[in-house]
Amino acid sequence: MASAPEWGSGGRWFESSRPDHNIKSSIIMDNKINIGLIGFGTIGSGVAKSLMERRDMLLKRSGIDFNLSLVCDKDLSSKRDVNIPKGMLTKDADRVINDPNIHIIVELIGGIHPAKEIVMKALSKGKHVVTANKLLLAAEGMDIFQKAMDSNREIYFEASVAGGIPIIKAIREGMVGNRFSSVFGILNGTSNYILSSMSTGGASFKAALKEAQLKGFAEKDPSLDIKGLDSSHKLAILSLLAFGKRVDLSDIYVEGIEDISNFDIQYAKELGYVIKLLAIAKRYGNELEVRVHPTFLPSEYLLSSVSGAYNAIFIEADLVGKQLFYGQGAGKLPTSSAVVSDIVDIGYKIACGKNSAESVIPRDTEIKKVRKMDDVVTRYYAHFSAIDKPGVLANIADLLGRHNISIASVVQKERSKSHIVPIVMLTHEAKEKDMQAALSKINKLPAIKKKSVIIRLEK
Ligand code: HSE
Repeated sequence: MASAPEWGSGGRWFESSRPDHNIKSSIIMDNKINIGLIGFGTIGSGVAKSLMERRDMLLKRSGIDFNLSLVCDKDLSSKRDVNIPKGMLTKDADRVINDPNIHIIVELIGGIHPAKEIVMKALSKGKHVVTANKLLLAAEGMDIFQKAMDSNREIYFEASVAGGIPIIKAIREGMVGNRFSSVFGILNGTSNYILSSMSTGGASFKAALKEAQLKGFAEKDPSLDIKGLDSSHKLAILSLLAFGKRVDLSDIYVEGIEDISNFDIQYAKELGYVIKLLAIAKRYGNELEVRVHPTFLPSEYLLSSVSGAYNAIFIEADLVGKQLFYGQGAGKLPTSSAVVSDIVDIGYKIACGKNSAESVIPRDTEIKKVRKMDDVVTRYYAHFSAIDKPGVLANIADLLGRHNISIASVVQKERSKSHIVPIVMLTHEAKEKDMQAALSKINKLPAIKKKSVIIRLEK
């Protein structure tokens, strides 16, 4: 193994800034940082493999020897593509958390419980923590960040949003001097894969989902992904970092992709748009808008060409202007890339005795509230299924007009055998509250034969 360059106090040991935990985890011997991994599933095995196979490379690059010392999982019998010596394996998470030689705990079990208890305990035992757990941070982040701050320990979570794309580092460090006005993008690979298959291959939603499951992009139970919830967890984390605003999950308007039809995708194309599931955070003065829903995007936008299981995040901020980040938002290796990066970052932090956990706690008083969905203003695509007879279009237009909704364009195709015709419209900007009120009246018109569809439009 390559010898470590000198660093820290003479290259021998370093004591972190507040040695009040009185345990070995605040002391690094021989530039070595010990890591305990809790959760040895797909991502966990990728992280273990990367750490073991790249130990030498990481030492050369960072001057720190990252040593995987204990691996914990309930299931130790399933086959993984990495060989961990038996003595390093345990089913007992407490053994990892209580090991005085371990500096960093990596939590990769997912879900809220017992992940929260593990993370909180690890922090109070003086361990630094790396997690990929977006739900945990979106739902319980404040407790955890506060605990990290009180314990003077780090909590890093790059893998929780957009997998391998270093978006958290980019926001927290690369753009730290900016005021953000928009952060939005494709944060769920499963949904993007499904929408792409429906768009390019003409597959139905059901067939596209099945294909995504067969190819390993979608989970057996894909609800969190296709209902937009996974995107909302990630949006809550991005909103906190970019806008300093802690957003409750219940404050985020969420609509999934289950009701998107091939008809609407086809119409989008004809009108020069694509449909993407977007997670959107936008600032208007002291209000923040946070929403997840299928969105019409002009097809010439870079974000519109992001297809398959890829993720992309568009950012607009005052110094840097517009930026787009693109890459693999899920999967064993891209996610491992983010986890390893967090481990190395914490290594540097330990080496220089600096803790930055407090920077996640919201302090930006500029954002006073989350805008109610009713008050959101956007353009709309609307698709009405109506009986083709005189006056129907006029009725619809009249109801829209009475609710302050101005029509930008209308298309009605030829009469079909069933005499039910699609009437498709794009509107100018309108308030969500007005659109919903108009829609509920339009849906009650005797000539309307199916629930009308609206899809919001981003420009
Ligand atoms: N299930 C997520 C997706 C990946 O489909 O993007 C993990 O965040």
